[in-house]
Amino acid sequence: MTFSPTDVRKDFPIFNRTIRDGKRLVYLDSGATSQKPLSVIEAESNFYEFHNAAVHRGAHQLAEEATDAYEGARAIVATFLGSPGGSDEIIFTKSATESLNLLAYAMGNAPVGNRFALSSKDRIVVTEMEHHANLIPWQQLSARTGAELSWFKVTPDSRLDLNSIDEVITANTKVVSITHQSNVLGTINPLAAIVKRAHEVGAIVILDACQSVPHMRIDVKALGVDFLAFSGHKALGPTGIGVLWGHMNLLDELPPFLFGGSMIETVTMTSATWAPVPQKFEAGVPNMAQAVGLGAALDYLSGLGMDEVHAHEVELTGYLLDKMKTIPGIRIVGPTNTLLRGGTVSFTIDDIHPHDVGQYLDSQGIAVRTGHHCAWPLAKCMLVPATTRASLYVYNDEVDCDALVDAILGAQKYFGRF
Ligand code: ALA
Repeated sequence: MTFSPTDVRKDFPIFNRTIRDGKRLVYLDSGATSQKPLSVIEAESNFYEFHNAAVHRGAHQLAEEATDAYEGARAIVATFLGSPGGSDEIIFTKSATESLNLLAYAMGNAPVGNRFALSSKDRIVVTEMEHHANLIPWQQLSARTGAELSWFKVTPDSRLDLNSIDEVITANTKVVSITHQSNVLGTINPLAAIVKRAHEVGAIVILDACQSVPHMRIDVKALGVDFLAFSGHKALGPTGIGVLWGHMNLLDELPPFLFGGSMIETVTMTSATWAPVPQKFEAGVPNMAQAVGLGAALDYLSGLGMDEVHAHEVELTGYLLDKMKTIPGIRIVGPTNTLLRGGTVSFTIDDIHPHDVGQYLDSQGIAVRTGHHCAWPLAKCMLVPATTRASLYVYNDEVDCDALVDAILGAQKYFGRF
């Protein structure tokens, strides 16, 4: 069956509404959060309507059903990521931000002798294109442990500068935490060389996959990374649910981050021991309905086929880039071809502030994001105070791209630039 964004749109109730006095909703902000198909909305509301109970606790039928639904969602995530250790390697968090903070904070708790313990002799490596969620936790860990923070620079053509890979990932590097796909540039980073070098020096590789898991087939084993984080709400799922995947032997050694109910094996008045992974990292009653909603979202994406989703986005991105390149006074902040690039297209327009562009687009029914996109150092490096960002997904089509291009031309006219 050929991929049809028109058919996909029919599964998303939000596209039944209009925007700004009857205009077609042109939703180009999926990089911030995706819209939800009916199956996800129903999965979440069915959980509350029919099965709601605290998982892993109650001795009653509802608790059993809730636990089955929650653990069923975990199994769906494991399959979706190709988790070699199955469901046990999937930890539910509230967001990708929490997943990354979990790692950094847990490493800060690691006692001397634990493989995750860091000192001033060690190095943590990130990139200049990180979202703040994959930068600040490592800044903080560096400040707490004395470990040096280093980073790959970004080239003017929006790629990671891997020329000096051996000088960035040094023999004392313990952690390399990088984004798979930039939330600003759309750049997809080539992981093989980074993973190879990191593993040569005994460092672990953490992948911020927020902008890739929703858009392409992911196989953690093939990628060779050690940990991966993503959020549900960018992958058609609910907010309030994120995932951390990691190799079991690493998760086993990593100390817990949150302490409380459900994550323990034994407790006395003065000490406690921990439950096995993944429970060790899931203290408290988790976001159950949201996990179930995420399961439904990944099922929906699998139904579309991740290769088809990716192919659709590459084709549409090429279409949009080709049209945008014909606009006078535009600068695309990111790769200008579809090679190793996703459907996030940031741009600036000469003499019009990105926020003004965003406001004009909104008046035409087009939803985009403006600003530094939680990647302030990257904006500085690209020499822009902010950009306007259009991000494409499964429900977007050429009509949406045409609407964007027409509205950019309209903005130029409105602001008297041409
Ligand atoms: N991280 C999200 C974005 O890039 C919110 O817009």
